[in-house]
Amino acid sequence: MENFMLTRLRNCLLTTGALLYSLNLFAQNPLPIPELLEGKLNEKGEKTFKLNIQEGEVEFFSGIKTKTLGINGPILGPTLKVKRGDLVNINVNNQLTEKTTLHWHGMHLPAKMDGGPHQMIESKTSWNPEFKINQEAATLWYHPHLLGKTGEHVYRGLAGMIIIEDENSESLDLPNDYGYDDLPIIIQDRRFNEKKQLQYIENTRDQVAGMMGNQILINGALDVRAEVPSKLTRLRILNGSNATVYRNVGMSDGRKFYQIATDGGFVEKPVELDNFVLAPGERIELLVDFSADFGKELAIVERYQAQDGSTQSFPLLPIKVSRKTASTQKMPEKLNDIEWFELSDDDTIRQFRLMLMNTGDAQNPKFVGMVQTDGNSQPMSMKSTPIEVKLNTEEVWVIGAGDHMFDHPFHVHDVQFQILARTVGNKFYEPYAWEKGWKDTVYVTGGMVGGAVIKMRFKDYSDPDSPYMYHCHNLEHEDLGMMGQFVIVP
Ligand code: C2O
Ligand code: CU
Ligand code: CU
Repeated sequence: MENFMLTRLRNCLLTTGALLYSLNLFAQNPLPIPELLEGKLNEKGEKTFKLNIQEGEVEFFSGIKTKTLGINGPILGPTLKVKRGDLVNINVNNQLTEKTTLHWHGMHLPAKMDGGPHQMIESKTSWNPEFKINQEAATLWYHPHLLGKTGEHVYRGLAGMIIIEDENSESLDLPNDYGYDDLPIIIQDRRFNEKKQLQYIENTRDQVAGMMGNQILINGALDVRAEVPSKLTRLRILNGSNATVYRNVGMSDGRKFYQIATDGGFVEKPVELDNFVLAPGERIELLVDFSADFGKELAIVERYQAQDGSTQSFPLLPIKVSRKTASTQKMPEKLNDIEWFELSDDDTIRQFRLMLMNTGDAQNPKFVGMVQTDGNSQPMSMKSTPIEVKLNTEEVWVIGAGDHMFDHPFHVHDVQFQILARTVGNKFYEPYAWEKGWKDTVYVTGGMVGGAVIKMRFKDYSDPDSPYMYHCHNLEHEDLGMMGQFVIVP
């Protein structure tokens, strides 16, 4: 597997893309903004949402229809906006000819409402989860989670964003005009075949490395440009890609910007950054000050080392500061109070290793993924024995990669955790500047990034019969079985 030379391959793809871009062969379309749904109150006082999972067609290339999947539209789904304390009732209607599920990634909720592999929605039926928004303001997302099919369903277009507000977020003076100075940015990479149809897994490499594309879609569209106002602007960035980690992401002119939130909520105060890494499943919220930039064209870029050793940048999202405004909105100094976890003697400590194994032979490889848990290796099946977590306890999970080749974003359902440390070999390091806060997904790999030690508290929703999932958010790894189950027992 060493000779896949993944980094090389990716650089080639990136170089090709960058070249096309600099030759300006791309027409730039306006960035689509997913519709915002705030729910309709029913007689029970619940905010109700209706999500129809359906087939669709998108004209990515002029005159050609590409088959896609979407929610209430041809690709992706609406952004759901809710507030802490809301009771929500979501009618999820599966109009596809196959079964699927819809999972609320990052949501703290009863396992039965989670939309994982156990909450299957058969073709032409619907599912009606009801739950209370029981967590602080954050940017979450939703996507299918059918065992063995998650990668394909997401790849074809099923995903959407969730915005949770709370009293704190509403009292902070932050940009919050959705689509104007508060932009959802869903980054995904895709590959189109000669017929300009979405090409899912073509070969073993796509399966073991995960499905990587050679074209970037932002909010489900190709070659788009965001129009932003000349003021402080909030970017809610979600890496909704199946397998691609975006490294060294920053602004094209190298300017500094401020992180205000991790996966599960605000950081304590804005964190000044000029680059960050975002793995599949992770979100980051940024504030960028465009107040002196009216008329300028910039881009969110990914920097990488070209084969000749030079640093190049590949545009993920071109931006034009085209909306003049006199706003002098300033960044709040304080955003949140976080109760920081520390190691304690009572913590249950568990070990997780994300592994890919060839159970076939060199001629006929058959890859299986698994999360080895406290030494027990079994690929995920609906009947995998869940680990038992006790209600009202805190656990420390030590996550490592069983290989040095692949990226493994490790995700835990139901809870938001904190990264106590990063590990390389048996050395401990501080987590990266942009991961100090509430997280539900942590990037783990075998090389210099290494593993992670995370800690979380299980404080609600015990139900010995309904498991939650933990898994690699490289969706092809997940579909190969790199997933396990846990239950919260009273
Ligand atoms: Cu984003 Cu278990 O999923
Ligand atoms: Cu999840
Ligand atoms: Cu993985």
